[in-house]
Amino acid sequence: MLANHMKLFFLVSLGALLVAIILAAWGFPKIVSKQIQKNIQLDNTSVMFEKWRKLPMPLDFKVYVFNVTNPEEVNNGAKPILAEVGPYVYKEYRERTVLGYGDNDTIRYSLKKNFIFDDTESGALTEDDELTVINFSYMAAILSVQEMMPSLTGMINQALEEFFSELRDPFLRVKVRDLFFDGIYVNCAGNHSALGLICGKLRTEAPPTMRPSEDGKGFYFSMFSHMNRTESGPYDMVRGTEDVNELGHIVAYKGKSFMPHWGGDKYCGQLNGSDASIFPPIDENNVPKRLYIFEPEVCRSMFASFVEKTTIFNMTAYHYAISRDVLAAKSANPENKCFCKKNWSANHDGCLLMGVLNLMPCQDAPAIASLPHFYLASEELLEYFGGGINPDKEKHDTYIFLDPVTGVVLKGLRRLQFNIELRKIESVPQLANVRTGLFPLLWLEEGATLPDSVVDELKGSHKLLSYVEAARWILLVMSLVATTVSAVALARSGALPMWPRNSNSVSFILNPNPPVIDVNKVH
Ligand SMILES: *[C@@H]1O[C@H](CO)[C@@H](O)[C@H](O)[C@H]1NC(C)=O
Ligand SMILES: *[C@@H]1O[C@H](CO)[C@@H](O)[C@H](O)[C@H]1NC(C)=O
Ligand SMILES: *[C@@H]1O[C@H](CO)[C@@H](O)[C@H](O)[C@H]1NC(C)=O
Ligand SMILES: *[C@@H]1O[C@H](CO)[C@@H](O)[C@H](O)[C@H]1NC(C)=O
Ligand SMILES: *[C@@H]1O[C@H](CO)[C@@H](O)[C@H](O)[C@H]1NC(C)=O
Ligand SMILES: *[C@@H]1O[C@H](CO)[C@@H](O)[C@H](O)[C@H]1NC(C)=O
Ligand SMILES: *[C@@H]1O[C@H](CO)[C@@H](O)[C@H](O)[C@H]1NC(C)=O
Ligand SMILES: *[C@@H]1O[C@H](CO)[C@@H](O)[C@H](O)[C@H]1NC(C)=O
Ligand SMILES: *[C@@H]1O[C@H](CO)[C@@H](O)[C@H](O)[C@H]1NC(C)=O
Repeated sequence: MLANHMKLFFLVSLGALLVAIILAAWGFPKIVSKQIQKNIQLDNTSVMFEKWRKLPMPLDFKVYVFNVTNPEEVNNGAKPILAEVGPYVYKEYRERTVLGYGDNDTIRYSLKKNFIFDDTESGALTEDDELTVINFSYMAAILSVQEMMPSLTGMINQALEEFFSELRDPFLRVKVRDLFFDGIYVNCAGNHSALGLICGKLRTEAPPTMRPSEDGKGFYFSMFSHMNRTESGPYDMVRGTEDVNELGHIVAYKGKSFMPHWGGDKYCGQLNGSDASIFPPIDENNVPKRLYIFEPEVCRSMFASFVEKTTIFNMTAYHYAISRDVLAAKSANPENKCFCKKNWSANHDGCLLMGVLNLMPCQDAPAIASLPHFYLASEELLEYFGGGINPDKEKHDTYIFLDPVTGVVLKGLRRLQFNIELRKIESVPQLANVRTGLFPLLWLEEGATLPDSVVDELKGSHKLLSYVEAARWILLVMSLVATTVSAVALARSGALPMWPRNSNSVSFILNPNPPVIDVNKVH
């Protein structure tokens, strides 16, 4: 009778142990990850969805401009001495418009950004500051002309003198507000036939930095106003309702699943990764070495490499940062060869130097992107300057910190510099005496840190998870204890013949009169 009770108790606790093991090993993690997925997937029932659609805080958009301190000397062949001015701080608000849902678990949206100048954060700097910078649109026009019809460059420059008023040298004296957003007027009203050619090209190609003027007689050039005016996209992004590890991957941009700009190359044209706003959770047993991010501004995917596991806001975070490989020259990273073109440079095998990316195929303008101050780029680039260029990891890095549980970005910064070649061209008086080199215009920093309210929310959900995690182990330990106790009791009751009742080893290890047995005897 007693033995039967013991047996039942043993079997029940053994069953409980099995269930607990299954739950601990498989059930709980499954339930937890399902619950997390429900909260982060791109579905209008999820907690994250609204935050993803309309960012709960503005990003900081900071611009640093390279003011040329010795333009007269540069015109006569001296090395440029630059002075960085900034940051000019803007608040960047982001809102997505959901356009629909596609096959293969995707959502289609467009992204609208809105920029507002932040007086307080900008300190003493104002949008009315006068700067002397490389004349980007003029250099872009001249370089394009030289590419297309080298022999006509001198003649076309005469037309450009009409197009650009008071063209004395390759530098532009400009107010910050005009350079960034309001625009610098370029005149198409002259009679020169070459002018018609250039303006016609602008009209058909409509580069984003050139905004047609209201009267239709010219254009306004500005660096960022197209970002404030127009929505970008549409993007097709994986919603993660089927496979959470695919969450946030952009599978198509403007309806194309491939960027055709890089000569049709499979590697360079690949759309990889997310738009940096959302990532899948990180599997701590299989931490990805790289995070891919698709950057429509440069028409390619980039990646950040895993640096370390760390803590911010008292939370575990995975730190990823941009590495030298991303913008490496072909010799250092052979895969990058499709970002090179035969005629881009006589030396270096048609590639640009280490650490720069030619945006010509992407933006139809001879702009060159790099990290700020040519950080992670070839030292050769620095030799061009008399001063003012000082690459520094702290100030010029691009990085991201992720919460591994939800894949939420805790903190992230993206930095990018725009440059253009200042080229010595004998037939153009303004360029006859300058040194040829890569000339920086400005660099921008776009980033955010989660506001306290969202951090607290995230911590709350982590706490909940830690309770679930604790429950999982408590259940396991409790059923393990019950099984052990009942097994011992069973053994001692003599119901299991293979365990000799008076075995020394058993009595040596166990209390000869465990209380549990007394409890059982009461029945
Ligand atoms: C949520 O999305 C579904 C389609 O996935 C749609 O049918 C439904 O109307 C949406 N609900 C709200 C409140 O937007
Ligand atoms: C930029 O440099 C010019 C000299 O080239 C100077 O007159 C001007 O004050 C500088 N602007 C700022 C904001 O430092
Ligand atoms: C969905 O996936 C299938 C198979 O992977 C593919 O053939 C199809 O083109 C995809 N559909 C879209 C709209 O991308
Ligand atoms: C961006 O556009 C909005 C209106 O669409 C305007 O109010 C705002 O001033 C613009 N921002 C800048 C920096 O020009
Ligand atoms: C530089 O180019 C602009 C057009 O972007 C033109 O209006 C301006 O006159 C040029 N500035 C100088 C100083 O040459
Ligand atoms: C352009 O031509 C018109 C007549 O064809 C003339 O009136 C005007 O003065 C000319 N403008 C310039 C800048 O030469
Ligand atoms: C895209 O991602 C795959 C791995 O997911 C990688 O092998 C490939 O090199 C990436 N392509 C680019 C252009 O970054
Ligand atoms: C982190 O935790 C410590 C102790 O647990 C606390 O003193 C500190 O204020 C916390 N810091 C933040 C940023 O929450
Ligand atoms: C490259 O340059 C050479 C001469 O400099 C020229 O003959 C050739 O057509 C150019 N190729 C392209 C694709 O522009």
